[in-house]
Amino acid sequence: MKKIVVLTGAGMSAESGISTFRDAGGLWDKYPVEDVATPEGYRRNPQLVTDFYNARRMQLLTVEPNEGHRLVAALEERYEVTVVTQNVDNLHERAGSTHVIHLHGELTKVTSSLEPNNPQYIRELSPEEYEVHLGDCAEDGSQLRPYIVWFGEEVPAIEVAADHVMQADALIIIGTSLNVYPAAGLIQFTKSDAQIYLIDPAEVRVPYGLPVHVIKKGASQGMRELVALLDGE
Ligand code: APR
Repeated sequence: MKKIVVLTGAGMSAESGISTFRDAGGLWDKYPVEDVATPEGYRRNPQLVTDFYNARRMQLLTVEPNEGHRLVAALEERYEVTVVTQNVDNLHERAGSTHVIHLHGELTKVTSSLEPNNPQYIRELSPEEYEVHLGDCAEDGSQLRPYIVWFGEEVPAIEVAADHVMQADALIIIGTSLNVYPAAGLIQFTKSDAQIYLIDPAEVRVPYGLPVHVIKKGASQGMRELVALLDGE
């Protein structure tokens, strides 16, 4: 069975009503990235950062996976699929994808602020717990922090993601500006004969000058066209 890796970014969830980061009016326009997505920002103003992630967690309760997420999940009927996502939402899982690697963490999880990557301290929140408070503690007694990879922090899942990309017959990239490394660098691990597809309504600069089949559409329409293309093969 053919193996497909789907690498997704914020544009994957745009049609579900979740803002992207770098488009005009995107999240980083409203909230300076150094304030809400760095360890220094958290140390400077933990309340602001806690409020920011609480709001994003609550938003999860109001949004649904879109057709693009569902078509990605449906690929599993015919291929061995690994989704590698930069998104911290849970929409791929809710659409039915069963193998999802979150490079930048997950909104629905919290962890220790001393040892954020220690699996012992990573905990899934139930929706009733989505509002985290300063003073809530992890198992090691430290302040509970979002299980989110902030800028400047290591990306522990990158190696296993790269292993999957190395074995893939096709890489499908959806809704990412490919600005952020190491995620954007995953494309370099593709086999020389792997097909690379890119679905995005905007022009995206592809690193390493690799040949890419571009579908310049939104996630849902782009996935419809890609499925038709794969059907024809
Ligand atoms: N369908 C598909 N793609 C879309 C859509 C849509 N409906 N709408 C917008 N896009 C595209 C944009 O054209 C852009 O190329 O989604 C991309 C979003 O890019 P970014 O906002 O830069 O998001 P992303 O690439 O996921 O950011 C990577 O940066 O800030 C950090 O940790 C954060 O995971 C994030 C990482």
